This record gives sequence, structure tokens and C-alpha cells, in this order.
Amino acid sequence: FSLKNHNTFGLDVSAKWFAEVHTEQELQEAILWAKEREVDLFLLGGGSNVLLTQDLDCLVVINAIKGITVLSQDENQVLVRAAAGEIWHDLVVHCIHEEWGGIENMSLIPGTVGAAPMQNIGAYGVEIKDVFVSLTALHRETLETKVFSKDECQFGYRESVFKRDLKGQYIITSVTLRLSKKPVVNTTYGAITEVLDSKGIAEPSIKDVSEAVIDIRRSKLPDPKQIGNSGSFFKNPVITVTQFSELKKQYQIPGYPQEDGQVKVPAGWLIEQAGWKGKRLGNIGVHDKQALVLVNHGGGEGSAIYQLAMDIQASVQSQFGIEILPEVNVL
Ligand code: EPU
Repeated sequence: FSLKNHNTFGLDVSAKWFAEVHTEQELQEAILWAKEREVDLFLLGGGSNVLLTQDLDCLVVINAIKGITVLSQDENQVLVRAAAGEIWHDLVVHCIHEEWGGIENMSLIPGTVGAAPMQNIGAYGVEIKDVFVSLTALHRETLETKVFSKDECQFGYRESVFKRDLKGQYIITSVTLRLSKKPVVNTTYGAITEVLDSKGIAEPSIKDVSEAVIDIRRSKLPDPKQIGNSGSFFKNPVITVTQFSELKKQYQIPGYPQEDGQVKVPAGWLIEQAGWKGKRLGNIGVHDKQALVLVNHGGGEGSAIYQLAMDIQASVQSQFGIEILPEVNVL
């Protein structure tokens, strides 16, 4: 079964077995099917954060469990539960339509709701952890459902317990968010203010913020339907103040101070300085408007993209002495 339409890089790798599940019952059946045959199971969300470098000798399961439910509400806020198979941006659109604020800055992030807490998705000043209440997940061995509180998820920058200690153990089935009925918009990210100013919007609604974010994303990030990609390929590295000051003497390097006193530097800047922006190697390359994004122009191989990523990593390491690590899961 070809996974070409199930990963945003558009890589034509195949899965030996494939199932799309629409209910928790079907998900459990798929897990048991794989168990009985001693076949590995790989759960794919929107396929927007994965680099497939070879054919998969396993059962690939697409989680298509849908549903958006209001659990409770008062005049100020609403608790919304979304099933893991919902498309993240569909949830954003739904919430904006209902005038529930909190996730509008995360408009147009590719992928599913279930994948969102895995790596604590974030954009333009907001992360999912800012509105997160809890999630439910199915244990792959015991098939028991567990509720994870926000603390238990151990969110960090593009990190959660599901990428670390509990890696591969649970399948997220739903996510509950606390959204505001009296939204206060977040326009701390400079580019948002610029777009709103250019449109003459002084008191933006959540819809205005969403539209501004969509404008910015469309101008920088390639549409996976046209050019295969998975958003930022690397995480932005965090370095010590000492290392940052040393680099500052030599380069006009941008940096964002972190709560712990360290400095986060844009990997896109490092990659651009190392000469990779817009570079094309046959069918694959580095996006010309945002160096953090690796692209498949069509017909490229996952292994070639991986090799390119490793070459970029090595060149940034040798020029700046900074290690950049993939955000994308390489398989
Ligand atoms: N920059 C360059 N050259 C480039 C790209 C970036 O010099 O080619 C520098 C510029 O100085 C720019 C700065 O990097 O001001 C920041 O760039 P940008 O605003 O595009 O953000 P980013 O740090 O590159 C992060 C997230 C994105 C998210 C944006 C906006 C990570 C790994 N990436 O990118 O998330 O949309 O901020 O909040 O944290 C994703 O995770 O897939 C993703 C797209």
C-alpha cells in the first residue's frame, strides 16, 4: 500500500499492511490484529512530521476518529474535546467560528489533533500547552485508556513525555482544551503586528489574527499539496549566553533569551548563513523562503532528504559549533 498521499513530504514508500480506523473499537481491533501476527504497528496522524526513508514492514494505522464535543462551559470559557483524527486546522476553524479564542495563532499547522500534543505544536507566540487541559490515550499493550493531565504530559519546546519516556507506548485518542469566550488576542510575534498594521486593523479579532497567521505562513512555508515538506525540519537550538556572546562578536546572529537564562537561536538563520537556503539537489532541496524547511519537489527519496539533513547538520556544527537536531521523526 503506497503511503504517498499519507505523508506531507509526498514520499512514495509502501506499507506492508494498512488500516484506517474510525472508532476506538476499530483501533483496538487493529492493535490486536498486529499483536496476534507479531507485526509492528505504526500510527500515522496527518503524516506531517515524519520522514519515511524506506518501505515499512509493518501495519500502518491512520487514526481517522472524528468528533468535536463541548464538555462544559460558562460565560468565560469552554472545555472542548476533539478526537485525535480531526485535522488540526479544521478544529481551529471550528473554534474561530464559535468565537472561542486560544488556538487562532496556530492556524494552518498541518497534521491531526492527536499529533499536536506529541510535540507540543506551536507558532507565532502560542503553544498547545497554553490551552491544554488533558488528553486520553490507549496503552498499546494493555489496551487500557489513561487520562494524562497537563503536568503528566511534561511539555517542553516541541517536546512531551510521548516523545521521551513513553515513546511508542500510547496512542492518543482525544485532546481537551480550555478556550476563552472572552478572547484576548496574542500579537506579540512581530510579523503578526506588521500584517495587522498593513491592513489598518487596530483591534483585531481572533479571526483577524488567524488570517494574519495564514498570510505569513503562506508567504514563507510551502504548501505540501504543491511542494512536499514537513514544516520546520530542525528544532531551534538553545545555547549558553557565553557561546551566544562569542558568536555575536563575529556575526549578526539573532537570539531569543529563554526563561532558564539560555538563548534560543533560529536554526533557519544558521542554515541560511551556512549557504543552504534555496539549494536544490535533483528533486530535493532547501526551501528558498525559509531555510528551516526541506522540500521534495516531486519524485525525491526520503533517504536523500535524510542525507541532506545530515550534511546541513554537519556544516552548521563546523561553522558555528552548534548542534541542530531534527524536529521531524525519521523512520
Ligand atoms: N531566519 C533566517 N533565514 C531563514 C529563516 C529564518 O535568517 O531562512 C531567521 C530570521 O532572523 C527570522 C528568524 O529566523 O526572523 C525566525 O524565523 P521564523 O519567524 O520563520 O520562525 P522560525 O524560528 O524559523 C519557528 C517554528 C515554526 C513556526 C514559527 C513561527 C520551530 C522549529 N519552528 O520557526 O514552526 O511556524 O517559528 O512561530 O520552532 C514547525 O514547527 O513545523 C514550524 C513551521
